[in-house]
Amino acid sequence: MNVVILAAGMGKRMRSDLPKVLHRLAGKPLLGHVLDCARSLAPKRLVVVYGHGGESVPQALAAPDLTWALQAPQLGTGHAVMQAVAHLDDAAPTLILYGDVPLTRASTLQRLLQTAGADRLGVLTVNLADPTGYGRIVRQGDQIARIVEHKDADASTRAIREVNTGIMVCPTPALKRWLGALSNDNAQKEYYLTDIVAAAVADGVPVVAAQPDAEWETLGVNSKAQLAELERVHQREQAGRLLEDGVTLADPARFDLRGTLRCGRDVEIDVGCVFEGEVELGDRVRIGAHCVVRNARIEAGAEILPFTHIDGARVGADARIGPYARLRPGADLAEDTHVGNFVEIKNSVLAAHAKANHLAYVGDADVGQRVNIGAGTITCNYDGANKWRTVIEDDAFIGSDTQLVAPVRVGKGATLGAGTTLTKDAPAGKLTVSRAKQVTVESWQRPVKQSQRG
Ligand code: UD1
Ligand code: CA
Repeated sequence: MNVVILAAGMGKRMRSDLPKVLHRLAGKPLLGHVLDCARSLAPKRLVVVYGHGGESVPQALAAPDLTWALQAPQLGTGHAVMQAVAHLDDAAPTLILYGDVPLTRASTLQRLLQTAGADRLGVLTVNLADPTGYGRIVRQGDQIARIVEHKDADASTRAIREVNTGIMVCPTPALKRWLGALSNDNAQKEYYLTDIVAAAVADGVPVVAAQPDAEWETLGVNSKAQLAELERVHQREQAGRLLEDGVTLADPARFDLRGTLRCGRDVEIDVGCVFEGEVELGDRVRIGAHCVVRNARIEAGAEILPFTHIDGARVGADARIGPYARLRPGADLAEDTHVGNFVEIKNSVLAAHAKANHLAYVGDADVGQRVNIGAGTITCNYDGANKWRTVIEDDAFIGSDTQLVAPVRVGKGATLGAGTTLTKDAPAGKLTVSRAKQVTVESWQRPVKQSQRG
């Protein structure tokens, strides 16, 4: 089929400078969700009608499989589809979607496509408790006769609860013909796409309806409140899938996934965590409360304690990270490593069993097996112009409050005394310390306040 996505509308009620379809749901633009769903149907042609917000919309979502059709000015949904018809393949029906209706399931669209077949007009409809604002499905007997917009409807038509979701599928040559004959003689002086329904009936083309599994699949975003509502619906759906897969979520209502999350068996996730990009959690991984984990792989048995921030990192099996740790891109932590509170690690490898338990910065470093990095240790990796590496070989012990001025190397099994500022390589197996000698001044007296002298 062809797919046309309408995304030219204004979105005034968002009260934002950003075009409505670029507002994000689960970290992805609304239009991105619709495109993903459309692509899953493998359309022959995929056309997006844009207008409000100008080129920022095609710029944000450019892709080789997309055709962009500009609608300016925006004179209604029928007028919007007219801008796309030149790009459509007559041999296949055309499915019309809205760029601000992000959560429609592909299975629902498949059902609509099957119901309509190649030569009927299909409309996705839903029965609403409060149909205010929507186009009403007017039937004669069982047959759909026309759609009447709320603003054009009289009281008895407004009492109809079956509404047009806006999603339709139509044989393409007929669509072109009916669009060509639309008028804007209505309450809103717009070219209504919905008028093609009466045109189909007049031409003897059957009009059929299909319904979605869930009402929220057809909900659009017109305000920040509706965006927040659909965000929760989507998150609850994602959480439900993880629960079905056997993941333990302390509270599915306090779980956020903005990307993809793959979990092994017996994974536990506490409340308030945010997962972004591509995240993989191995068997028995436990994530404490309020962690942010982005583009990361956390291997079997590892435990991430609360308030930890992980971005672009690997955490090896049985590692223990946090609370309050920060792993930045390029942090590669092998099995059974320990990283504690207020430790930041960037672009560094920690070999198996290495530990940095408190208050440290490890950047651009290669840290060997069983190395212990004391509290307050800093790799001085940046000289103001270039970044340099620090190498700490296996079994070294780095005393507290040490500065490692890179490039520098600590040999295998070396010990650095607390407070050392290491500017030259430290030999293997020896104690190296740089520290002013400790003195006690016998004659010293503590000063007293002037006023107390009398
Ligand atoms: C439309 C339908 C109505 C249906 C409702 C469902 C028409 C005439 N009415 O009404 O039957 O119940 O959707 O939400 O079709 N758009 C453009 N260009 C335009 C106008 C709209 O691209 O000139 C896009 C919008 O960005 C939006 C979609 O089309 O994604 C629907 O527009 P909207 O103004 O929300 O349509 P409604 O009047 O609410
Ligand atoms: Ca709307």
